[in-house]
Amino acid sequence: AQVKQEKTSFGNLKDSDRIFTNLYGRHDYRLKGALSRGDWYKTKEIILKGSDWILGELKTSGLRGRGGAGFPSGMKWGFMNKPFDGRPKYLVVNADEGEPGTCKDREIMRHDPHKLIEGCLIGGVAMGARAAYIYIRGEFYNEACILQEAINEAYKAGYLGKDCLGTGYNFDVFVHRGAGAYICGEETALIESLEGKQGKPRLKPPFPADIGLFGCPTTVTNVETVAVAPTICRRGGDWFASFGRERNRGTKLFCISGQVNNPCTVEEEMSVPLKDLIERHCGGVIGGWDNLLAIIPGGSSVPLMPKNVCDTVLMDFDALVAAQSGLGTAAVIVMNKQTDIVKCIARLSLFYKHESCGQCTPCREGCNWLNKMMWRFVDGKAKPSEIDMMWELSKQIEGHTICALGDAAAWPVQGLIRHFRPELERRMAEFHKQVLAEQGAKQI
Ligand code: NAI
Ligand code: SF4
Repeated sequence: AQVKQEKTSFGNLKDSDRIFTNLYGRHDYRLKGALSRGDWYKTKEIILKGSDWILGELKTSGLRGRGGAGFPSGMKWGFMNKPFDGRPKYLVVNADEGEPGTCKDREIMRHDPHKLIEGCLIGGVAMGARAAYIYIRGEFYNEACILQEAINEAYKAGYLGKDCLGTGYNFDVFVHRGAGAYICGEETALIESLEGKQGKPRLKPPFPADIGLFGCPTTVTNVETVAVAPTICRRGGDWFASFGRERNRGTKLFCISGQVNNPCTVEEEMSVPLKDLIERHCGGVIGGWDNLLAIIPGGSSVPLMPKNVCDTVLMDFDALVAAQSGLGTAAVIVMNKQTDIVKCIARLSLFYKHESCGQCTPCREGCNWLNKMMWRFVDGKAKPSEIDMMWELSKQIEGHTICALGDAAAWPVQGLIRHFRPELERRMAEFHKQVLAEQGAKQI
């Protein structure tokens, strides 16, 4: 049997293989522009091929959820494709993009709203859902208006509503605006919020695929995941799978911020080397690659990586887990040697403390303690034994909470201790030296 040769180098995606960003700034986001880019092309045929065909293409494509967790999308959407028990099914699009450093879904909604709406319809057919709710971050006011405008156009053109595109399928899409809580990006908190309650995560299982919105089977999926589905169906799962490595397939939006010359959101091949991504698309690190200190590769919820790891690591799920970090939302936050890394992580711990919903004690109390301890390290006022104490505290939070926010608060601190312990020790030594000098001066 012929063994398929795996690729060994990644990146340098051609414009014609870019799903989203190939024409940004050069086309109208409204229906006319969307049609000229190929959106809504052969959508009717795709729908008539049915649920199993769409799910088959998704599985072939190897697409993994783009919201951060990387769960295989074909399998997740397939959980909904089971015998009907009388309850309606829902697709919920998670557009509550709140992860620090992340601004990829915002770009899709700004420039490609029709790709998302078409994806809702195709995803809805794959799941047997009758409606999609797009839960959009409250701060994204302009994007919510753009989405609503595009939905109105789609209804007017007969793409949504009763008998979509003449297929006999009825499907509605609604936009729901959040009110500024980061935790509402967690899928079960999002569902609670959509139901009109406080956005507090539920225990899983049961997963939303069994009991979700209004007690009905629901799939909560990220904007990028839904918006790539139409192109995968049109160009084929094999085409998408031709990018990236085994288990890490496709093209991907990366948002790069921090100490680079040209911060941007760019679409690249999965598994592109991190260094290439930054040098090719962002004009490099400010002060040059040798001036790099550390990078958080996947939004603030994953641990940072020091320069020596960044030199060679590939940007995909497996490579970054092997590097004791994660792809998360693929929001690359670059810190050079002029960055106060301890202060950065302290600021992140303040963010998690502020955003904790307060339901579980390890998260509510632990985030508060972590934050207080981190600021002591910023000033150098902590004692050396507090480094291990803080590590232990982060371990008491990790894995002991209802949702992933607890882990997300613990990991940046763990990354700092793992890779920058000498910097924490240096600050303490400097502070104590200063105190001794002041005491000495007073005695004189
Ligand atoms: P998760 O691993 O718990 O779940 C992933 C998805 O798979 C969920 O939709 C879940 O319902 C489904 N699933 C998993 N096992 C299942 C099963 N046995 N049966 C049915 N469905 C199943 O991860 P979670 O908590 O949804 O996401 C965490 C990630 O979110 C983090 O990695 C972080 O990077 C990311 N994140 C993204 C943000 C953003 O702004 N996009 C904000 C904060 C975090
Ligand atoms: Fe709320 Fe934190 Fe518990 Fe998540 S981990 S449910 S944010 S208290």
